[in-house]
Amino acid sequence: MPTETAPDPTGAGSSETGPRIVMENVRKQFGKNVVLDDLNFSVDRGERVTLIGPSGSGKTTILRLLMTLEELTGGYIYVDGEPLTHAKRGERRVKLRSGEVSRIRRRIGMVFQQFNLFPNMSVLENITEAPIHVLGRSKDQARADALDLLDQVGLKDRAQAHPTQLSGGQQQRVAIARALAMEPEILLLDEVTSALDPELVGDVLQVLRDVARNTDITMLIVTHEMQFAQDVSHRVLMFDQGHIIEEASPQVMFTAPQHERTQQFLQAVL
Ligand SMILES: Nc1ncnc2c1ncn2[C@@H]1O[C@H](COP(=O)(O)OP(=O)(O)O)[C@@H](O)[C@H]1O
Ligand SMILES: [Mg+2]
Repeated sequence: MPTETAPDPTGAGSSETGPRIVMENVRKQFGKNVVLDDLNFSVDRGERVTLIGPSGSGKTTILRLLMTLEELTGGYIYVDGEPLTHAKRGERRVKLRSGEVSRIRRRIGMVFQQFNLFPNMSVLENITEAPIHVLGRSKDQARADALDLLDQVGLKDRAQAHPTQLSGGQQQRVAIARALAMEPEILLLDEVTSALDPELVGDVLQVLRDVARNTDITMLIVTHEMQFAQDVSHRVLMFDQGHIIEEASPQVMFTAPQHERTQQFLQAVL
């Protein structure tokens, strides 16, 4: 019988049961501007966590660090217990080789505020591109999977359209399908409805509600749609100037926030 090991909050060593994401003493500076300073939090497997807080509080930076679009200034990020970009070797902090980074990074998908579809490709090609070239799927398989996903997001009849022929809401639903096509374990959503006309927001949120209901994908969500956040998330973290100043269930956060900054922020956005 293998001896049971206690979950290791530092995320050291790969494990099947520990947290999905661990941020440990994370620091991020842009020049002299310290955006995140000694940030620590973890996200469980299948957990959906919403990040709220004023503009400039570091929410996007956290998602971009996880997506390895920004380089950590200090600290460590672990995914499934494995270091994402930097590892501890004794007392030393060692940067991982790019091959090691991309293997883990592949488990993470992101949808941005601006849809970022490839403008010169059809909807279908947008979705099949990475599964074919990164995951090595056959064209037929990638195509069949993409059509299933387009069906899920209500756009099966637009497979041959080009992004410019779609509304912002439709483009965003394609972007969600494209992220899901990579079968991510972690999905990062950065204000995915903020650039949309109000009447297009509902369909996009409905697609995400379905993803939340029908999958066990771990989600980190930045949104100002508080009803949506309340419906889909297990936990809400309130950020201010790069620090978590309050952490609660959505029920508590949105009805009885403790911190004065949280009360002010929620009053302003609700
Ligand atoms: N690429 C960058 N270069 C310089 N400063 C940046 C960059 N990205 C973000 N910042 C700064 O980091 C801080 C946090 O930004 P951000 O993570 O976008 O906050 P939020 O998403 O909460 O609005 C801001 O002060 C912003 O100006
Ligand atoms: Mg942001």
